[in-house]
Amino acid sequence: MRFSCWRKPCDGSPGRSKIRVNVHRPLGGREKIPILNKPIMLLVCRWIVIWIYALVLGGMAGGSLQAAAIETVAQDNGQALPSTGKGLYQNACMACHGRDGTGSRPSRVGFKTPLPDFTDCSFASREGNVDWVAVTAEGGLARGFSDEMPAFGDALTDAQITRILDYMRRFCRDKDWPRGELNLPRPLFTSKAFPEDELVFTSSIKTAGNDKIANSLIFEKRIGARNQVEIVFPFGWGQYPTSDDPENTEWKSSIGDLALSGKRVVYDSLDAGAIVSVGAEVLLPTGDEDRGFGNGTTIVEPYVAYGQILPESFFLQFQGGGGISFDRDQAENEVFWKLTTGRTFHEGHFGRRWVPMMEVLGSSELASNGNTHWDVAPQFQVTLSRRQHVRLNIGVRIPLNDRDARDTEIGVYLLWDWFDGGLFEGW
Ligand code: HEC
Repeated sequence: MRFSCWRKPCDGSPGRSKIRVNVHRPLGGREKIPILNKPIMLLVCRWIVIWIYALVLGGMAGGSLQAAAIETVAQDNGQALPSTGKGLYQNACMACHGRDGTGSRPSRVGFKTPLPDFTDCSFASREGNVDWVAVTAEGGLARGFSDEMPAFGDALTDAQITRILDYMRRFCRDKDWPRGELNLPRPLFTSKAFPEDELVFTSSIKTAGNDKIANSLIFEKRIGARNQVEIVFPFGWGQYPTSDDPENTEWKSSIGDLALSGKRVVYDSLDAGAIVSVGAEVLLPTGDEDRGFGNGTTIVEPYVAYGQILPESFFLQFQGGGGISFDRDQAENEVFWKLTTGRTFHEGHFGRRWVPMMEVLGSSELASNGNTHWDVAPQFQVTLSRRQHVRLNIGVRIPLNDRDARDTEIGVYLLWDWFDGGLFEGW
């Protein structure tokens, strides 16, 4: 059946006045019967014409709104553009994002892609300006979002875009939410101060002696503006001497000490570029201690985490705390400190992010003959997805002292910021 009548008037010209379809009649075998008469057919045709028309117009409305938005700001010949963020926003962005930042209705914009609600601080505080400038300059596609979000890079300068974004930041009125700029790249060992919604898979691989791979699956959930809870499920494999023949080894799987932790942001300031959190982790003695996968007792680790933005895309992160052991025969109390410095590089203007980092790790047992250990861990993190919500970090942890008892280990993690989208979205 061809619905060609939307081009020509459906005037019931011969041959199209009745549409006949084959149906199986319950008893009488196959017979052609007329099931549609002319008025009904006319109605169907009209409906189809209207439907196609609406589809085409809808598509054009979205496209033309995009073009219009860019054109409005591109034509500054004679008519100077407004200089304020608000004026620029009203010119270029308001048609889609709405006067109040909640987004215009689909019927107004002509496309179905949901518009973000910039008054929702949980969404609007997470990204730094650098990410929003990228989306605004290069369009939604550049960060794996919808192409309904146009690219304004040719029409607006970075400075103008930043002014617009500064205005848009005011749509979120709750100042409790730390700004996304303070969300510094995650090091391999130092805990971040910024609360996250993430799933992280970490692995550390021994490079000497019997092989051992220790993994952790870490689930982090942000609660409200300033809190985060976390569950760490450690497991791994190691090569051990077989019981009947100590010369031979075999691989065995183990689980480690399950850890639960929570933290809360106690200070944050975008002007100072600083964020401070306090938190505590409880490690439960669920691990196979004999195989080096557990402490054999409960340990509570209170800590402070601090992140500092430095000039030229450098940053500093610090975590310091203690481990309080419930059984000192199994594990000593200790203090630890972890310091990370690094710098963020972008491929091109807004592309993939490369973050080389260096961690200095120290811990000291609080016993009369306690050891103090020092390690360094050079590493780099790279964003894998265009949306930058899936990241990989690879590094090595090199002991600086007590090297007979401690080996160099390779450290890796794969991180998925699930608030920003599905694992397979945004590539
Ligand atoms: C033609 C409609 C349209 C116009 C005009 C428009 N946007 Fe958008 N914008 C969108 C859509 C649609 C999305 C959501 C994309 C998605 O979630 O896939 C979006 C998303 C965004 C985001 C959120 C990205 C994120 O991290 O989730 C920012 C920031 C943004 N727009 C900024 C701007 C600015 C600034 C302007 C004006 C200079 C502007 N937009 C003009 C349609 C538009």
